[in-house]
Amino acid sequence: MNNPLHIIFLGAPGAGKGTQAQKLVEKYGIPQLSTGNMLREAIEEGTEVGKQAQEVMNRGDLVPDSVVLKIIADRIVQDDCQKGFILDGFPRTVAQAEGLDQMMADNSLDLTHVFCLNVNDDVVVERQSGRLFAPKSGRVYHEKNNPPKVAGKCDVTGEELVKRDDDSEEVVRHRLSVYREQTAPVKDYYLKQGLVQEFNGCQEVETVFGELVAAIESAQAAA
Ligand code: AP5
Repeated sequence: MNNPLHIIFLGAPGAGKGTQAQKLVEKYGIPQLSTGNMLREAIEEGTEVGKQAQEVMNRGDLVPDSVVLKIIADRIVQDDCQKGFILDGFPRTVAQAEGLDQMMADNSLDLTHVFCLNVNDDVVVERQSGRLFAPKSGRVYHEKNNPPKVAGKCDVTGEELVKRDDDSEEVVRHRLSVYREQTAPVKDYYLKQGLVQEFNGCQEVETVFGELVAAIESAQAAA
């Protein structure tokens, strides 16, 4: 049996983290833990966490570290994470990365991959403005680059696709500046641990996916 996969996706908003994470879920049968999706669910359900997060997310700022650390600490110990998990949108600050290291050590787990998807700002704005989102399943599409089979409907659940509240150009540009200030240092944190593998996220979805799978398979073969 293959070793558990514990994957982190780093990259700017719109780099394709969610898109690639979904494809890895289908291939390897391990869950995608997207803090963005979990926070959006909490907003939808009207929980205390959702109430705290809504305004912050609509502005494009980061939700407090303590809130997301608790969400992830509770999630990684669930049964479906035994064969591994894919972290999408977490960690986003050095404090979150340090918290994750502690959680992994507490549960005798090792990070296996830190994948960094590199894109430029213009690509990000174009992708976010065309993004379509399935609120229940968390699947993402793009009006032109990755359209659903039936316009406006999720391929898998059939639910209505929507635009995200934080995908306006103004908020996307703010999210990019937050990324540069608070999340870019997370890459340095993992570079020091020798874990980062970089990918050109401007390529076609399938090309990026092929490169990610090759990286995983080569590490599994060497283990
Ligand atoms: P979150 O939901 O994590 O958003 P994000 O990191 O800004 O990332 P995105 O979901 O925008 O982009 P992505 O890289 O997943 O791209 P996608 O695959 O969708 O976070 C939202 C908010 O929640 C944050 O601003 C913050 O407030 C809060 N939050 C979340 N986590 C937090 C944390 N840990 N700490 C604190 N706060 C937190 O692709 C984008 C589009 O491009 C899609 O339309 C897709 O179809 C298309 N596309 C993807 N790949 C390609 C390709 N190769 N070619 C062409 N089109 C492509």
